[in-house]
Amino acid sequence: MINKPKGCVDITGDESLLWEYVNDVVSTMMRTYNYELIRTPIFEASELFHRSVGASSDIVKKETYDFQDKGNRNLTLRPEGTAGVVRSYIENKCYALPDIKKYYYNGTMYRYERPQNGRLREFTQFGVEVLGSNDPIVDAEVISLQYKILEALHIENLEVKINSLGDAESRDNYKKALVSYLEPHLNELCEDCQERFKTNPLRILDCKVDADSDILKNAPKTIDYLNKESKERFETVLKYLDLLEIDYEVNPNIVRGLDYYDHTVFEIVSLDHNETSQSVLGGGGRYNKLIKELDGPDSYGIGFACGIDRIIAILKEMDLYKDVKRQVEVYVMYVSEEEKLHALDIVQNLRLNGVVTETDNLGRGLKGEFKEADRLQAKLLIILNNEDLQKGLVNIKDNATKEEEKVDLSEIVEYIIGNL
Ligand code: HAM
Repeated sequence: MINKPKGCVDITGDESLLWEYVNDVVSTMMRTYNYELIRTPIFEASELFHRSVGASSDIVKKETYDFQDKGNRNLTLRPEGTAGVVRSYIENKCYALPDIKKYYYNGTMYRYERPQNGRLREFTQFGVEVLGSNDPIVDAEVISLQYKILEALHIENLEVKINSLGDAESRDNYKKALVSYLEPHLNELCEDCQERFKTNPLRILDCKVDADSDILKNAPKTIDYLNKESKERFETVLKYLDLLEIDYEVNPNIVRGLDYYDHTVFEIVSLDHNETSQSVLGGGGRYNKLIKELDGPDSYGIGFACGIDRIIAILKEMDLYKDVKRQVEVYVMYVSEEEKLHALDIVQNLRLNGVVTETDNLGRGLKGEFKEADRLQAKLLIILNNEDLQKGLVNIKDNATKEEEKVDLSEIVEYIIGNL
């Protein structure tokens, strides 16, 4: 028997109902906020992720699925969505358009991580990227959209943890302070962090091994090194969030594991499910340097992504299945070949009129069909028999009250819709 690859999941049954529900809420919200769906390739040139997510990030160093295709091109399964969206924006010269671009996406991502609860190797994110504006109103919109989608999914007690890394000057000042603080403690840090100290010292703050050490806890905070402009910008974002009544906590430890961020960075958690890093439902931030770093013009970007697998895990705990269950409304019953031809026609007609309809596909016979209709909890049964059909009639039975009525063939749809 061939099993699914480690860290992947099959989604079926009741769980797939929750996926449909999440996808519906996400796409409806995205459309009301006027975001445009973007679909980019699942694999991209490896270099794209080295230059965006960062060659010294854990994701690129340890977690990407890299391969060569038959033409010897170096390709990588996307570990996240931002890089591909920005690549597309530049490649299609969307920066030349008169307006900003507001994209949303929903798709699988791939990271070679140690699988555990809430951490998979193939997982699904929905997210947005807004390109072309540096106005803090966009930061507030993106953060509140993420918050409002989770709220619309009935996830309660949400909190945004927010921080600012500031502009290039603020980051440089911070980096210097961090380096001189860490240097005397270098031997006490893990091997990876000693390497990060040389390549990208900010990465040390994101280390999973040293996360609880006092050295990291007492390290300088980005927020204390913001220059005046960056500080004012951050305060404006917070003011807008206050106005939108988004619950947030300024958390100076949020730096995020990807290299492309500056200014606003954030993560969102449900305080009811808040114990581990796997409980982070989503995160994002601003990346104003990234477009230029990927050979585009000087421009601006900000976005977020949420892990749908983690959201589903919470919804499962909340027992939401019954609210999203796919309910068969009508079950059509027949025995003879003649009746079957009518059944085929009636089923199609009802479905095209938006009625969830099912019929027998296994030659069960009447007794078996009654049983199946009960199992599906169908509300109305259409019971076909040759005698009535010859008079142009069908029997329709209410499966709860057991009341039966004869209805004209030409009036079935009207009758069903009126009695559901
Ligand atoms: P990220 O924090 O790496 O950000 O991922 C965002 C979310 O994806 C996480 O909060 C988590 O819910 C989910 N996630 C990440 N890794 C896994 C995994 N192995 N298994 C299950 N879920 C996972 C980004 O990906 C950025 N591209 C977000 C962004 C968009 N920043 C700006 N624009």
